[in-house]
Amino acid sequence: MKLGKILLVGLGLLVVFLAAAISLTIGWRPFIGPKARPLTERKFESTPERLARGHYLANSVSGCLFCHSEHDWTAPGAPVLPGKEGAGESLPYIDLPGRIVAPNLTPDPETGTGTWTDDQIARAVREGIGHDGRALFPIMAYGRFRSMADEDLASIIVYLRSLPPVHHELPKTAIIFPVKYLIRSAPQPLTTTVSRPDPSDRVAWGQYMATIGGCEDCHTAEERGKDIANMNFAGGFFLGLSGGETAAAANITPDASGIGYYDEPIFLKMMRTGYVGARKISPLMPYAFYGNMTDDDLKAIFAYLRTVKPVHHRVDNRLPVTYCKLCRQWHGAGDQN
Ligand code: HEC
Ligand code: HEC
Repeated sequence: MKLGKILLVGLGLLVVFLAAAISLTIGWRPFIGPKARPLTERKFESTPERLARGHYLANSVSGCLFCHSEHDWTAPGAPVLPGKEGAGESLPYIDLPGRIVAPNLTPDPETGTGTWTDDQIARAVREGIGHDGRALFPIMAYGRFRSMADEDLASIIVYLRSLPPVHHELPKTAIIFPVKYLIRSAPQPLTTTVSRPDPSDRVAWGQYMATIGGCEDCHTAEERGKDIANMNFAGGFFLGLSGGETAAAANITPDASGIGYYDEPIFLKMMRTGYVGARKISPLMPYAFYGNMTDDDLKAIFAYLRTVKPVHHRVDNRLPVTYCKLCRQWHGAGDQN
């Protein structure tokens, strides 16, 4: 009897201890599923302005058609395969935790978005919940797309609806344990309105374009899905194609080890051609995609990059890959930091 009581108290304490440990560390989302808001009936009306803006954002700024289409990685600038625009792609990168598939975004009713509502797509883009209620793997950059203005989101969805439907079967995403459960903490509902900054404020506009353009997804190193503090835009994140090209993202802060020496023409040429002087940049930097941005938007991004904190961090893809204690990644010139 007495022993039974002691065991019960012990068990009780263990439960309390475990509960506290879970609350303080990974939280409860891995067990109970992601935080999601109920879907609404909203529908985005198609207008010529929205179609044009959506085409621009999806094709040249936010990477939608870059990730959600198959590429010819051997051709200069890694163009999308003709006839496969938006039809989905199993991501070809190394070091992914399993098979990550960017689904078919064309309106095909069987293999695409034909039967999904506008709000199902909207919630996926800014809040990270798939049409089936699942937490999306955060390489789909919903953390940053959260800052996308309502009108821009509506424009992208209107444009996706206008794509020719492509019937394209793809395997399903299969994420390894425990990542599959841990990502359930990432999605956050969004219920307020989001507006664009005033375009006459060039730095604020540049920051907005850089955010919805996902520059930091590659140019800020991460650890377990969180940006490493004080390393914004400082590079080091190592990317590669299975069996192909590898490169670490560059330091694009205004430090001397970054792009301190750039001026506006160097930046524009880099973003449009992939060349910095005679140095050729890896196609893992999607310059052919960003190269169609307007001069005004590219100049605003450059004006914004001039204002970010300079970080001294050497990244050089021509040198051997070594461990870097600053960004805690492996990259060229890592041992010089
Ligand atoms: C870096 C690559 C990348 C970019 C950029 C990207 N996506 Fe995705 N997207 C993905 C991947 C991968 C998934 C699937 C994640 C998973 O299966 O967990 C996904 C999922 C989605 C889904 C959810 C599909 C479902 O199952 O419900 C939608 C909708 C979507 N993306 C739309 C967009 C739009 C619109 C944009 C541009 C604003 C965009 N994506 C940009 C990679 C990307
Ligand atoms: C998919 C990952 C990815 C995204 C997204 C990305 N970059 Fe890059 N970027 C890279 C990689 C990798 C390199 C290094 C390539 C090399 O050294 O050959 C690079 C290089 C650069 C360089 C050249 C720096 C130098 O060495 O002179 C600039 C400038 C740049 N990126 C700006 C941007 C901007 C601005 C954005 C957003 C609009 C952006 N990048 C988005 C991966 C990315």
